[in-house]
Amino acid sequence: MTQELKLLILEDSPDDADLIQRVLKRSGLNFQAVVASDERGFFNALNDNGFHAVLSDNALPQYNSTEALKLVKTIHPQTAFILVTGTVSEEFAVKIIQDGADDYILKTNLTRLPTAIMKAIERKKSQKEVEQEKNLSVEIINSLPGIFYLYDKSGRFIRWNRNLEFVSHYQYNEVARMKPWDFFKADRQTISSTAGPWFSESGPQGEEVTLIGKDGSRIPYLLLQTEIEYGGSACLLGIGMDISTSKKSELELKELSVQLRSLTHRLNSIREQEQRRIAREIHDELGQQLTGLKMDVFTLKNAVAAGKTANQLETKFGEVFSLIDEAIKSIRKIASELRPSMLDDLGLVAALEWQSQEFTKRFNIETSFNADEKAKRYELDPDVATGFFRIYQESLTNVARHAGPCTVKSTLEITNGNIIMKVMDTGKGFKSDNKEPRKTLGLVGVRERAMMIGANVEIFSEPGQGTELILSMPLP
Ligand SMILES: Nc1ncnc2c1ncn2[C@@H]1O[C@H](COP(=O)(O)OP(=O)(O)OP(=O)(O)O)[C@@H](O)[C@H]1O
Ligand SMILES: [Mg+2]
Repeated sequence: MTQELKLLILEDSPDDADLIQRVLKRSGLNFQAVVASDERGFFNALNDNGFHAVLSDNALPQYNSTEALKLVKTIHPQTAFILVTGTVSEEFAVKIIQDGADDYILKTNLTRLPTAIMKAIERKKSQKEVEQEKNLSVEIINSLPGIFYLYDKSGRFIRWNRNLEFVSHYQYNEVARMKPWDFFKADRQTISSTAGPWFSESGPQGEEVTLIGKDGSRIPYLLLQTEIEYGGSACLLGIGMDISTSKKSELELKELSVQLRSLTHRLNSIREQEQRRIAREIHDELGQQLTGLKMDVFTLKNAVAAGKTANQLETKFGEVFSLIDEAIKSIRKIASELRPSMLDDLGLVAALEWQSQEFTKRFNIETSFNADEKAKRYELDPDVATGFFRIYQESLTNVARHAGPCTVKSTLEITNGNIIMKVMDTGKGFKSDNKEPRKTLGLVGVRERAMMIGANVEIFSEPGQGTELILSMPLP
């Protein structure tokens, strides 16, 4: 080593201190030494952290090597410590090495001292490197976002990160006594075992498991486990990621697709029903009226052929005209049930007014509708108007079906650039914040429609408190 070593010699005999330095010089060691002869001198010298090694005598008048070693270990643990002494018992030598001294040398045999110093310094250096590496790996595993653990074939945990304790709510000492299968319940049978080691057969693989916390909490985890060799035997190293969020989205997606399927099914069956109803109305009403008309026209033809005048046939013509009027009315009725012509001709406000009156007439439920001036004048996009109208219809249908005896108040207004429709009833209400998936489709359809036109819908209801639906959409 070409670097100049800094040595601190704790020695109350100047002759011995000289002797030590002479021996070291003779060996060719490049060094600089500071000599302290008592506790105070030693303490002061140690203020300097640059010493590579301390060479300490065993017993000084009011100080000793055990105390000196304690001090060095506390303030400069990286400095090597060698006991250089006249005589020492075997037990004491063993004890001081156990306490952390790097070596001991007898003054009667100083020739080994230079090599002992070099070896002790080297060892300290590699100890420091190992310590640094260990600290780094502890930092890394503790800063991992998920959980980390290492266990042996018997399932005993060797290492784990703080996050494992944090998410499982088990303390360090508890984890140390536990086995992996005390925490994790595997979804599949492959790695789950309550009897044997918890090893996957082949290489690193992802397993979805449930981590069961001390408080009974259940968190879905994806575990990736790899077999590695540690301390000469096969161990399993695992990292786990919390997959609650993706699990939740997965479930939501499944639920949505079920809803979508039932919505499609319902749309189809509604279409079928509607077609059947229209067919019946056309057949029963229009069909009869036209048949009647045909018979009347036939009678008229015969009468004209028999030479009857228009005056003589006035009553018959009257019957024909009123049949035609009825047929026109029927056509209008069927058409407006399919889609109120008002929505296209007169706009949303008129259509909502008409629908409210129809509803009052049909169900005997007092229904008021008011629109503000801005809403009356605004020309909505036809698709948006249809969306608002259909949502209004579903709300009123729900009132008729579920709310019981009550009154309905609805409004349409434009405020702060938003068009807002409110439908409030004073009926029996329901738990609208229920998070259970809906089995019915009316309100699901309402939400779908709102989403399709870029509107937002909110439903507020509590049992006994009536129901309020608010549909709002920013205007372009
Ligand atoms: N105005 C209301 N007053 C009281 N309860 C209501 C009201 N609107 C909805 N509900 C409750 O909310 C539930 C869901 O309504 P939704 O319209 O989705 O279904 P539905 O009317 O029962 O069936 P459908 O799918 O045929 O519409 C209803 O079953 C009812 O319990
Ligand atoms: Mg409904």
